[in-house]
Amino acid sequence: MTRKDPLVDLLIHDLTGPLSIVLTSVNNLLSKKDKCEPYNEYQRDTLKRAQRNAEKAKALLLEIIEVYRSEEGLFRRDAFLISDILREALVDAIEVAAPSIGEELAHAEVSNYAEILEQNGITIEVAGRYEKTPFTHDPKKIRQILRNLISNALKYRKNTMRLTITGDLDLVIAVTDDGEGIPPEKQDYIFKRFFHANREKDEPEGLGFGLSCVKNLVEKMRGEISLKSGEGTGSCFTVRIPPL
Ligand SMILES: Nc1ncnc2c1ncn2[C@@H]1O[C@H](COP(=O)(O)OP(=O)(O)OP(=O)(O)O)[C@@H](O)[C@H]1O
Ligand SMILES: [Mg+2]
Repeated sequence: MTRKDPLVDLLIHDLTGPLSIVLTSVNNLLSKKDKCEPYNEYQRDTLKRAQRNAEKAKALLLEIIEVYRSEEGLFRRDAFLISDILREALVDAIEVAAPSIGEELAHAEVSNYAEILEQNGITIEVAGRYEKTPFTHDPKKIRQILRNLISNALKYRKNTMRLTITGDLDLVIAVTDDGEGIPPEKQDYIFKRFFHANREKDEPEGLGFGLSCVKNLVEKMRGEISLKSGEGTGSCFTVRIPPL
Protein backbone atom coordinates (compact mmCIF):
# COMPACT_ATOMS: atom_id res chain seq x y z
CA MET A 1 0.00 0.00 0.00
CA THR A 2 1.72 3.21 -1.12
CA ARG A 3 0.73 6.79 -1.64
CA LYS A 4 0.94 6.16 -5.38
CA ASP A 5 -1.96 3.76 -5.10
CA PRO A 6 -5.03 5.72 -6.32
CA LEU A 7 -7.35 3.17 -4.76
CA VAL A 8 -6.05 4.10 -1.29
CA ASP A 9 -6.69 7.81 -1.95
CA LEU A 10 -10.19 7.01 -3.11
CA LEU A 11 -10.86 4.74 -0.15
CA ILE A 12 -9.76 7.35 2.40
CA HIS A 13 -11.77 10.04 0.64
CA ASP A 14 -14.93 7.97 0.23
CA LEU A 15 -14.90 6.60 3.77
CA THR A 16 -14.63 10.01 5.43
CA GLY A 17 -18.11 11.19 4.35
CA PRO A 18 -20.27 8.23 5.43
CA LEU A 19 -18.32 7.87 8.66
CA SER A 20 -18.97 11.51 9.60
CA ILE A 21 -22.67 10.98 8.97
CA VAL A 22 -22.77 7.87 11.18
CA LEU A 23 -20.93 9.74 13.94
CA THR A 24 -23.16 12.84 13.76
CA SER A 25 -26.30 10.69 13.76
CA VAL A 26 -25.26 8.68 16.81
CA ASN A 27 -24.11 11.83 18.61
CA ASN A 28 -27.52 13.39 17.93
CA LEU A 29 -29.33 10.36 19.31
CA LEU A 30 -27.22 10.53 22.45
CA SER A 31 -27.34 14.29 22.98
CA LYS A 32 -30.86 15.40 21.98
CA LYS A 33 -32.40 14.08 25.15
CA ASP A 34 -35.78 15.81 24.80
CA LYS A 35 -36.43 14.12 21.43
CA CYS A 36 -35.19 10.61 22.12
CA GLU A 37 -34.98 9.78 25.82
CA PRO A 38 -35.66 7.73 27.82
CA TYR A 39 -33.47 4.90 26.53
CA ASN A 40 -33.27 1.63 28.35
CA GLU A 41 -29.82 0.45 29.43
CA TYR A 42 -29.38 -1.84 26.41
CA GLN A 43 -30.23 0.94 23.91
CA ARG A 44 -27.90 3.42 25.58
CA ASP A 45 -25.00 0.92 25.77
CA THR A 46 -25.48 -0.02 22.12
CA LEU A 47 -25.46 3.61 20.99
CA LYS A 48 -22.37 4.31 23.07
CA ARG A 49 -20.58 1.30 21.56
CA ALA A 50 -21.46 2.51 18.05
CA GLN A 51 -20.21 6.01 18.95
CA ARG A 52 -16.92 4.69 20.39
CA ASN A 53 -16.22 2.54 17.37
CA ALA A 54 -17.12 5.21 14.81
CA GLU A 55 -14.71 7.51 16.67
CA LYS A 56 -12.01 4.81 16.53
CA ALA A 57 -12.51 4.40 12.79
CA LYS A 58 -12.31 8.18 12.30
CA ALA A 59 -9.11 8.38 14.36
CA LEU A 60 -7.62 5.61 12.25
CA LEU A 61 -8.46 7.42 9.01
CA LEU A 62 -6.89 10.62 10.36
CA GLU A 63 -3.83 8.62 11.38
CA ILE A 64 -3.48 7.15 7.88
CA ILE A 65 -3.76 10.62 6.35
CA GLU A 66 -1.02 11.89 8.70
CA VAL A 67 1.24 8.98 7.74
CA TYR A 68 0.75 9.69 4.04
CA ARG A 69 1.49 13.36 4.57
CA SER A 70 4.81 12.46 6.18
CA GLU A 71 5.59 9.84 3.51
CA GLU A 72 5.61 12.80 1.16
CA GLY A 73 7.91 14.68 3.54
CA LEU A 74 5.16 17.12 4.57
CA PHE A 75 6.02 18.23 8.08
CA ARG A 76 4.80 21.33 9.83
CA ARG A 77 7.46 23.19 11.80
CA ASP A 78 6.57 24.50 15.22
CA ALA A 79 8.35 25.16 18.52
CA PHE A 80 6.53 23.51 21.43
CA LEU A 81 7.15 22.30 24.97
CA ILE A 82 7.44 18.53 24.91
CA SER A 83 5.66 18.22 28.28
CA ASP A 84 2.50 19.76 26.75
CA ILE A 85 2.46 17.34 23.83
CA LEU A 86 3.29 14.46 26.16
CA ARG A 87 0.31 15.28 28.40
CA GLU A 88 -2.05 15.29 25.41
CA ALA A 89 -0.65 12.01 24.08
CA LEU A 90 -0.88 10.41 27.51
CA VAL A 91 -4.51 11.40 28.01
CA ASP A 92 -5.43 10.18 24.48
CA ALA A 93 -3.66 6.83 24.96
CA ILE A 94 -5.10 6.30 28.44
CA GLU A 95 -8.66 6.98 27.25
CA VAL A 96 -8.37 4.17 24.73
CA ALA A 97 -6.05 1.67 26.42
CA ALA A 98 -6.93 2.19 30.11
CA PRO A 99 -10.35 3.92 30.30
CA SER A 100 -10.71 3.50 34.08
CA ILE A 101 -7.58 5.63 34.64
CA GLY A 102 -8.99 8.04 32.02
CA GLU A 103 -12.09 8.45 34.19
CA GLU A 104 -9.91 9.32 37.20
CA LEU A 105 -7.95 11.90 35.20
CA ALA A 106 -11.11 13.43 33.77
CA HIS A 107 -12.25 14.33 37.29
CA ALA A 108 -8.85 15.57 38.51
CA GLU A 109 -6.90 18.83 38.35
CA VAL A 110 -3.90 18.75 35.98
CA SER A 111 -1.66 19.36 39.02
CA ASN A 112 -2.78 15.96 40.45
CA TYR A 113 -2.11 13.96 37.27
CA ALA A 114 1.39 12.78 38.27
CA GLU A 115 0.12 11.37 41.57
CA ILE A 116 -2.80 9.54 39.92
CA LEU A 117 -0.50 8.13 37.25
CA GLU A 118 2.03 6.91 39.84
CA GLN A 119 -0.76 5.19 41.79
CA ASN A 120 -1.58 3.34 38.57
CA GLY A 121 2.00 2.23 37.92
CA ILE A 122 2.77 4.94 35.34
CA THR A 123 6.00 6.91 35.82
CA ILE A 124 6.87 9.93 33.69
CA GLU A 125 10.18 11.77 33.71
CA VAL A 126 11.14 14.73 31.53
CA ALA A 127 14.80 15.78 31.78
CA GLY A 128 17.56 17.13 29.56
CA ARG A 129 17.45 20.17 27.33
CA TYR A 130 13.79 19.91 26.38
CA GLU A 131 12.53 19.90 29.94
CA LYS A 132 12.37 23.71 29.70
CA THR A 133 13.43 24.61 26.15
CA PRO A 134 10.95 24.19 23.27
CA PHE A 135 11.62 21.42 20.75
CA THR A 136 11.14 22.24 17.06
CA HIS A 137 9.23 19.77 14.92
CA ASP A 138 5.74 18.78 13.79
CA PRO A 139 3.84 18.49 17.11
CA LYS A 140 1.07 16.29 15.65
CA LYS A 141 3.57 13.71 14.50
CA ILE A 142 5.44 13.70 17.82
CA ARG A 143 2.09 13.25 19.59
CA GLN A 144 1.22 10.36 17.27
CA ILE A 145 4.52 8.61 18.06
CA LEU A 146 4.09 9.10 21.80
CA ARG A 147 0.45 8.02 21.76
CA ASN A 148 1.21 4.76 19.96
CA LEU A 149 4.13 3.77 22.17
CA ILE A 150 2.24 4.67 25.34
CA SER A 151 -0.90 2.79 24.31
CA ASN A 152 1.13 -0.33 23.52
CA ALA A 153 2.92 -0.17 26.87
CA LEU A 154 -0.44 0.23 28.64
CA LYS A 155 -1.99 -2.62 26.66
CA TYR A 156 0.87 -5.08 27.11
CA ARG A 157 2.23 -4.24 30.59
CA LYS A 158 1.60 -6.34 33.67
CA ASN A 159 1.74 -3.56 36.25
CA THR A 160 4.07 -0.76 35.27
CA MET A 161 4.99 1.61 32.47
CA ARG A 162 7.82 4.14 32.55
CA LEU A 163 8.32 6.95 30.06
CA THR A 164 11.41 9.13 29.99
CA ILE A 165 12.28 12.07 27.79
CA THR A 166 15.92 13.11 27.61
CA GLY A 167 18.38 14.49 25.06
CA ASP A 168 20.56 17.55 24.59
CA LEU A 169 20.26 17.95 20.83
CA ASP A 170 18.06 15.10 19.54
CA LEU A 171 14.89 14.30 21.45
CA VAL A 172 15.11 10.86 23.05
CA ILE A 173 11.93 9.08 24.12
CA ALA A 174 12.07 5.76 25.98
CA VAL A 175 8.96 3.77 26.90
CA THR A 176 9.42 0.70 29.10
CA ASP A 177 6.88 -1.83 30.32
CA ASP A 178 7.00 -4.98 32.46
CA GLY A 179 4.86 -7.15 30.16
CA GLU A 180 5.43 -10.49 28.40
CA GLY A 181 8.06 -8.97 26.12
CA ILE A 182 8.70 -9.79 22.47
CA PRO A 183 10.89 -12.80 21.56
CA PRO A 184 13.96 -11.94 19.40
CA GLU A 185 12.66 -13.80 16.31
CA LYS A 186 9.55 -11.60 16.24
CA GLN A 187 11.22 -8.26 16.84
CA ASP A 188 11.69 -7.39 13.16
CA TYR A 189 8.13 -8.27 12.27
CA ILE A 190 6.31 -6.14 14.83
CA PHE A 191 7.12 -3.03 12.76
CA LYS A 192 5.29 -4.46 9.76
CA ARG A 193 1.70 -3.48 9.10
CA PHE A 194 -1.03 -5.67 10.61
CA PHE A 195 1.39 -7.95 12.52
CA HIS A 196 0.55 -9.35 15.96
CA ALA A 197 3.33 -11.05 17.91
CA ASN A 198 1.15 -13.22 20.14
CA ARG A 199 -2.06 -13.81 18.25
CA GLU A 200 -2.43 -17.32 19.64
CA LYS A 201 -2.32 -15.94 23.19
CA ASP A 202 -5.15 -13.96 24.68
CA GLU A 203 -3.76 -10.62 23.50
CA PRO A 204 -5.69 -7.33 23.66
CA GLU A 205 -7.30 -6.59 20.30
CA GLY A 206 -5.57 -4.11 18.01
CA LEU A 207 -5.15 -3.49 14.31
CA GLY A 208 -1.39 -4.03 14.18
CA PHE A 209 -1.01 -0.63 12.55
CA GLY A 210 0.51 1.54 15.30
CA LEU A 211 4.16 0.48 15.26
CA SER A 212 4.42 0.53 11.48
CA CYS A 213 3.14 4.14 11.59
CA VAL A 214 5.70 5.02 14.26
CA LYS A 215 8.60 3.46 12.34
CA ASN A 216 7.53 5.14 9.13
CA LEU A 217 7.30 8.55 10.81
CA VAL A 218 10.59 8.22 12.67
CA GLU A 219 12.42 7.24 9.47
CA LYS A 220 10.96 10.19 7.56
CA MET A 221 12.17 12.39 10.43
CA ARG A 222 15.67 10.93 9.91
CA GLY A 223 15.53 9.52 13.43
CA GLU A 224 15.88 6.01 14.82
CA ILE A 225 13.73 3.52 16.68
CA SER A 226 15.08 0.57 18.62
CA LEU A 227 13.66 -2.17 20.81
CA LYS A 228 15.15 -4.04 23.75
CA SER A 229 13.06 -6.97 24.81
CA GLY A 230 13.04 -10.68 25.45
CA GLU A 231 10.44 -13.26 26.32
CA GLY A 232 9.15 -12.53 29.81
CA THR A 233 11.40 -9.51 30.41
CA GLY A 234 9.20 -6.59 29.34
CA SER A 235 9.93 -4.23 26.45
CA CYS A 236 11.72 -0.93 26.03
CA PHE A 237 11.17 1.11 22.85
CA THR A 238 13.59 4.01 22.31
CA VAL A 239 13.06 6.72 19.69
CA ARG A 240 15.59 9.40 18.78
CA ILE A 241 14.40 12.38 16.74
CA PRO A 242 16.59 15.25 15.51
CA PRO A 243 14.98 18.71 15.59
CA LEU A 244 13.52 19.96 12.28
N1 LIG B 1 5.02 -3.09 24.53
C1 LIG B 1 4.76 -4.26 23.91
N2 LIG B 1 4.86 -5.45 24.56
C2 LIG B 1 4.60 -6.62 23.93
N3 LIG B 1 4.20 -6.73 22.64
C3 LIG B 1 4.09 -5.58 21.94
C4 LIG B 1 4.36 -4.29 22.53
N4 LIG B 1 4.16 -3.35 21.58
C5 LIG B 1 3.79 -4.01 20.47
N5 LIG B 1 3.75 -5.35 20.67
C6 LIG B 1 3.41 -6.40 19.67
O1 LIG B 1 3.59 -5.86 18.38
C7 LIG B 1 2.36 -5.93 17.64
C8 LIG B 1 2.25 -4.71 16.75
O2 LIG B 1 2.03 -3.53 17.53
P1 LIG B 1 1.14 -2.36 16.94
O3 LIG B 1 1.18 -1.22 17.88
O4 LIG B 1 1.59 -2.13 15.54
O5 LIG B 1 -0.29 -3.02 16.86
P2 LIG B 1 -1.45 -3.16 17.95
O6 LIG B 1 -1.08 -2.48 19.22
O7 LIG B 1 -1.80 -4.62 18.01
O8 LIG B 1 -2.66 -2.41 17.23
P3 LIG B 1 -2.87 -0.83 16.98
O9 LIG B 1 -2.93 -0.70 15.50
O10 LIG B 1 -4.14 -0.51 17.67
O11 LIG B 1 -1.67 -0.12 17.55
C9 LIG B 1 1.27 -6.02 18.70
O12 LIG B 1 0.12 -6.66 18.21
C10 LIG B 1 1.97 -6.85 19.77
O13 LIG B 1 1.91 -8.23 19.42
MG1 LIG C 1 -0.44 -0.44 19.11
